[in-house]
Amino acid sequence: MSYRDFPKVELHLHIEGAAPPAFIRGLAQEKHVDISGIFDERGNYRFRDFLHFLKVYEAATQVLQSPEDFRRLTLAVLEESAAHGVVYSETFLSPDFCGGSDVAAWREYLHAIREAASQAERDFGITLRGIVTCIRHFGPEQAKKTARCAAETADDWLCGFGMGGDENAGAPGDFAYAFDMAREAGLRLTSHAGEWRGPDEVRATVRDLGVERIGHGVRAIEDLALVEDLAERGVVLEVCPGSNVALGVYPALSAHPIEKLRERGVKVTVSTDDPPFFHTTMTQEFDNLARVFKWTEEDFAALNRIAIEAAFCDEDTRSAILKKLETT
Ligand code: ADE
Ligand code: ZN
Repeated sequence: MSYRDFPKVELHLHIEGAAPPAFIRGLAQEKHVDISGIFDERGNYRFRDFLHFLKVYEAATQVLQSPEDFRRLTLAVLEESAAHGVVYSETFLSPDFCGGSDVAAWREYLHAIREAASQAERDFGITLRGIVTCIRHFGPEQAKKTARCAAETADDWLCGFGMGGDENAGAPGDFAYAFDMAREAGLRLTSHAGEWRGPDEVRATVRDLGVERIGHGVRAIEDLALVEDLAERGVVLEVCPGSNVALGVYPALSAHPIEKLRERGVKVTVSTDDPPFFHTTMTQEFDNLARVFKWTEEDFAALNRIAIEAAFCDEDTRSAILKKLETT
């Protein structure tokens, strides 16, 4: 049995990281950019480790040069997500890759992305909401520019602010100004942490950035007092098991802490992160959890409820998606 048709809520997807390699190759050809080195002989993305992954990722974004490119990308990504049963997606958008975090340019890219989102909602029945994300290894000054883009365009659609990139660059507190700016604009907050660094990084991220969700956060399991604290505070983890295994955070899903975190009362959700890079889909994530940890339809229904409760969307959207989850 496969969970392909089971409805799903995904909270952690990077729009550029979801670009199918053939899509990126097509744009590279159109624009006469040679990025052949980022693909293997089968045409998949090729990378050695996490830092090399970030380099390959940034090389792929070089061919995404206009709002129209992002319109096409968003449509392609949402069609694929919908084919795997995703009814609601929160996706990380990076103004850094959309005009270099210049507010005027960002508005044009965002307009194009939202146009694609409306079309995908009509054509494929999937709802998209955006989270602006800054990139940690680009540094705190660039993060402020990105936060300004987010603050200027914050509304019911552009509803969150977050941070991805190299977790080993600097400390969470270095980015407090950017997160404060986003919070003051009414945006909800999440940040990657506890993917590469351990429990102290998760603790500092919650404390210094005031986030209510953590991207990954899985290495919190190495400190059970922290796990208890996350459970008590209701901090939600955007867990991406396939990503963690593909990047070598854990050797196999059977060694992944998602089940232990869940058993200890932490609110876990499941996402793909950058699906073509990690050879995964939401269907595969669900099927793998069913096989390895014996999760059932009831477990996945509970997972969906946690995810939609933790979504950064407005209440009308949340109720509409909840209804959809109950009736499909
Ligand atoms: N950007 C895209 N994928 C990422 C990941 N897994 N960790 C940090 N930054 C990312
Ligand atoms: Zn991520």
